[in-house]
Amino acid sequence: MKSGVSQQKKGPFLTDIEEIRRRARKHIENGAVMPDYQGDLKTVLCVLNEALATELICVLRYKRHHYTAKGIPSQGIAEEFLEHAQEEQRHADQIAERITQLGGEPNFNPEGLLTRSHSEYVEGETLLEMIREDLIAERVAIESYSEIIRYLGDSDPTSRRMMEEILANEEEHAEEMETLLETVGKEEKQYERQG
Ligand SMILES: [Fe+2]
Ligand SMILES: [Fe+2]
Repeated sequence: MKSGVSQQKKGPFLTDIEEIRRRARKHIENGAVMPDYQGDLKTVLCVLNEALATELICVLRYKRHHYTAKGIPSQGIAEEFLEHAQEEQRHADQIAERITQLGGEPNFNPEGLLTRSHSEYVEGETLLEMIREDLIAERVAIESYSEIIRYLGDSDPTSRRMMEEILANEEEHAEEMETLLETVGKEEKQYERQG
C-alpha cells in the first residue's frame, strides 16, 4: 500500500499548506501554539499543571515507599516502588515540557503542591498499607486523567495524546499494585496462621 503522502495530488490542498505555512511564520513568536488553537489555553495550562503536581506527589510517595520498604524482606517490592517513582518522574517531565510548548509556566513550587495534586501523599506504616495507598493514588490519577482527556477532546490533540499515553501507564501501575496487594495480603495471612 502506498503512503498517503506520495498519492497526494496538486490542488486546493496545496493552497491550504501555503496558508498554514504563512500563518506559522507570522505567529512564530507564539511557539507551538497556533492562532487557531482550539483549546481554552488558560484552562488547559491550569489542568496540565494539576496533572504535573499529581505526578510530583506520586514521585515523592513512591520514593518514600521505596526507602522505607527496604528493611522488610521485600526487596522486589521496594524495587517496584522505585521503578514507579522513575516512571512518574518521566510523566512529570513530559507534562512540564508540554506546558512550556504551550507558552505556559510549569509550576514546581513546593508550596501548594498537595493542594494542586489530585493524588494524596500517604506514607503508610506497613508494606500492605503502602501498596494500598499507591493503588488508591493510581486510581485517582486514572479518574482525573480520563476526565482531562475528555475535556481536551479534539481541541488539543497533542496534549490529549500525551495524557492518553500517561493514562495507559497509570493503568499498568494500578494493575501491578493490585497484584502486589493480593500477594502480600495472602503472605501476611499465612504468616499470622503460622505464628
Ligand atoms: Fe504518572
Ligand atoms: Fe502511576
